[in-house]
Amino acid sequence: MNTPKVLVINGPNLNFLGIREPNVYGHDNLASIEANLTAQSHDLGVSVECFQSNSEGAIVDKIQQAYGNTDFILINAGAYTHTSVAILDALSAVSIPFIEIHISNVHAREEFRHHSFLSAKALGVIVGFGVDGYTYALDKAARYLKAKAEH
Ligand code: DQA
Repeated sequence: MNTPKVLVINGPNLNFLGIREPNVYGHDNLASIEANLTAQSHDLGVSVECFQSNSEGAIVDKIQQAYGNTDFILINAGAYTHTSVAILDALSAVSIPFIEIHISNVHAREEFRHHSFLSAKALGVIVGFGVDGYTYALDKAARYLKAKAEH
């Protein structure tokens, strides 16, 4: 059996984790989050590819390129969560199950962060647990893919 592949997408300004508003997003940087996910993936029997872009079009391109070769997507679309029909459409187009992640509790923040264009199509949403949310999401993705392989 091929090793299932999980694509981790981080959107705008998440390359500034560790620098950006540490009171909201914590002190970990994206490189350490990605390294932890890669280490975790070995224990879970999945492979992980990590991608970050500040550009909406580049994220749409990356999702399209995942078609046919990726089993699951974890996505923190950053501010595009609240604005991007294009990212929603790309995720719908490729029909790859995905989990939406937010480091902060967006529901405890400004009103404009309460709506997500992605949530209705997500398998689930992980919000407000800091960078641990990525770990929880990868664990769930691996469980989901294992259950699917057994059926
Ligand atoms: C975020 C929440 C968004 O509202 C914000 O624009 C981000 C990060 C989070 O991880 O908490 O860039 O997605």
